[in-house]
Amino acid sequence: MRGSDRIGFLDTMDTGNNFCCGIVRPLTTYSWQFQDSGELLACSRTGPSRKLRHPLMEKNIESHLIEKRVFKPAPGFAKRARIGSLNEYRRMHRESLEKPDKFWSREAGELVWQTPWKTVLEWKAPFAKWFVGGKLNVSENCLDRHLTGPNRNKAAILWEGEPGDKRTLTYQQLHRDVCRFANVLKRNGIRKGDRVIIYMPTIPEAAIAMLGCARIGAVHSVIFGGFSADSIRDRVADCGAVAVITADGGYRRGTIVPLKKNVDDALTGETSVKRVIVFRRAGNDVHIEEGRDVWWHRELEYVDANCPPAQLESEHPLFILYTSGSTGKPKGILHTTGGYLVGIYSTTKYVFDLRDDDVYWCTADVGWVTGHSYLVYGPLANGATTLMYEGAPNWPEPDRFWRIIEEYSVNILYTAPTAIRAFIRWGDEWVKKHNLSSLRLLGSVGEPINPEAWMWYHEKIGGGRCPIVDTWWQTETGAIMISPLPGAVPAKPGSATLPFFGVDAAIVDEAGQEVGPNIGGKLIVRQPWPSMLRTIYGDKERYKKTYWSEFKGSYLTGDGARRDKDGYFWIVGRIDDVLNVAGHRLGTSEIESSLVSHPKVAEAAVVGRPDELKGQGVIAFVTVKSGVEATRALKDELRNHVGKHIGAIAKPDEVRFAEALPKTRSGKIMRRLLKEIASGNTVTGDTSTLEDFNVLAKLSADE
Ligand code: WT7
Repeated sequence: MRGSDRIGFLDTMDTGNNFCCGIVRPLTTYSWQFQDSGELLACSRTGPSRKLRHPLMEKNIESHLIEKRVFKPAPGFAKRARIGSLNEYRRMHRESLEKPDKFWSREAGELVWQTPWKTVLEWKAPFAKWFVGGKLNVSENCLDRHLTGPNRNKAAILWEGEPGDKRTLTYQQLHRDVCRFANVLKRNGIRKGDRVIIYMPTIPEAAIAMLGCARIGAVHSVIFGGFSADSIRDRVADCGAVAVITADGGYRRGTIVPLKKNVDDALTGETSVKRVIVFRRAGNDVHIEEGRDVWWHRELEYVDANCPPAQLESEHPLFILYTSGSTGKPKGILHTTGGYLVGIYSTTKYVFDLRDDDVYWCTADVGWVTGHSYLVYGPLANGATTLMYEGAPNWPEPDRFWRIIEEYSVNILYTAPTAIRAFIRWGDEWVKKHNLSSLRLLGSVGEPINPEAWMWYHEKIGGGRCPIVDTWWQTETGAIMISPLPGAVPAKPGSATLPFFGVDAAIVDEAGQEVGPNIGGKLIVRQPWPSMLRTIYGDKERYKKTYWSEFKGSYLTGDGARRDKDGYFWIVGRIDDVLNVAGHRLGTSEIESSLVSHPKVAEAAVVGRPDELKGQGVIAFVTVKSGVEATRALKDELRNHVGKHIGAIAKPDEVRFAEALPKTRSGKIMRRLLKEIASGNTVTGDTSTLEDFNVLAKLSADE
């Protein structure tokens, strides 16, 4: 280490895919330092000076770190792009931070407001109000505003179901369907401010249900179709939903997911839900509860298409989306109307650099925030053609995506690294069968994209000619926060590059001091931005504590990152007890709570293990109650228990029985050790606080 070199300090560093360290706070603090080339220069740890086998030294992260390739926007692309040079990006970014009112007024001014706003931002940290005094309607901005010009008969939604059925809805048709459905909601007693659960496959009706709620000012909460009845029950109770909109079933890998059945199971006993509206999608038999359930198609017979958009305050809630945190209880992230719309409108416009004739495809499910912001609201607010696909990427064969791109001449593809890794594994022959020359821009979201996957995506899918936008953001941020602008910012494989307009992102050490180039630290955002979450539904205290308490006035993202000498952000991953499994967030404690709720389980600890395809896999260490036999059958029982409790995505990949779990003397489970064991590594870190060393020996031997 050179004398002039600065060192970053960070404990509890859990980078998700790649490494973890220093979980036993406050005893162990790791420091590391990178060269400008990205190479790890030094890594040290306070405390006993033993040789440290630091996970940063491991191959996958190293290759990430020595990444030197730079891909400049092709001149042809830059020439046609909205933002065509790095200088222009820098000028606008500076303006957006120095004069946010001016910047955001200009963006918001491109949208339709029923009443203009008086104040752009009221910031009483950590509570923000954007476009105060303004009134508007998101569905009016996504639909009505396109009906007076050439977009009227443009395809708003191109949809393909997993079995191969197809539909196209023009803006005019979608407007009509949304108005009629909004009238169905009203007819069923749903009013402004009411919470409505949407539990549907990725079909046009999911978008219609969302936009219908937005039209009347009802607050939707979409639940991913992979979540179980118990998860629906918890979310219904947390937000006090009065209605559920669902379908009989949805297709996934050729089988029918019984959505309505799950809703029935969720609503047994006491519930706030008065109405269930059921869309017929799969034709499977369902139970209809008299007095509570109605069929979508029948209801449409009673309504017309006249439904003026409700005039809503800019801060009127638009939706709640539940996401996992570091406690057992999912957080209901609340987004509101004006700021969210401006955020997703503006990011979609600049990051995807949409053109009028683009076919834009975001492969996300409506159940995730990407499905909200970049499958439905963002593209529609921009008058784009958004393609929706209901099913799995490998159904009926692993070339389904490429088949779709060829068939619809898709221009922009936005997908996740976990999917890209799966495509790589399935083999290039599936890609080669199709003509992908319509593509002009590629996007990635959900987790860090490893440079190898980036290169494959660039060469095999993008034909070497398409820029890639690696977009970093979160459910909480509502919109993309760090990403290249494709015509302006040179890309480096594996880096999300530079912050979007209005985003004041920084990397800080434990004391909140900004660290220098190539020093790892915590990623924070120092200024409010329009599409930020407003609170955790019903829990202001948790909102303050989770996001705003560690560094006063700054938003804590929960991610670790570093910036290189060009100011590029390299996101490493979560630094809290949150896993990123196939781009989906899962709280370890949520899964632990589920396991412990099983009558045979005494204690459980859940950790992530690097997984080639999913980024991370879920490993559960379980101690059973005395007298219970730890059998293979019990392992399956526990996996299914979690599947039933939370959803199939949360099922541990592996359950390992332990006589006891390694704990600190103060009783805290030492996850760091479990992670090392789960990853098949020998435990080398600090074990000086371990209560009973025998436990560790047994666990390691148990492999
Ligand atoms: C977490 C947020 C944003 C929509 C999908 C996930 C990770 C997301 C990237 C990226 C590196 C990324 C972060 C973040 N993440 N995008 N481009 N590079 N990491 O939303 O479920 O709220 O998860 O996903 O760890 O905190 P989410």
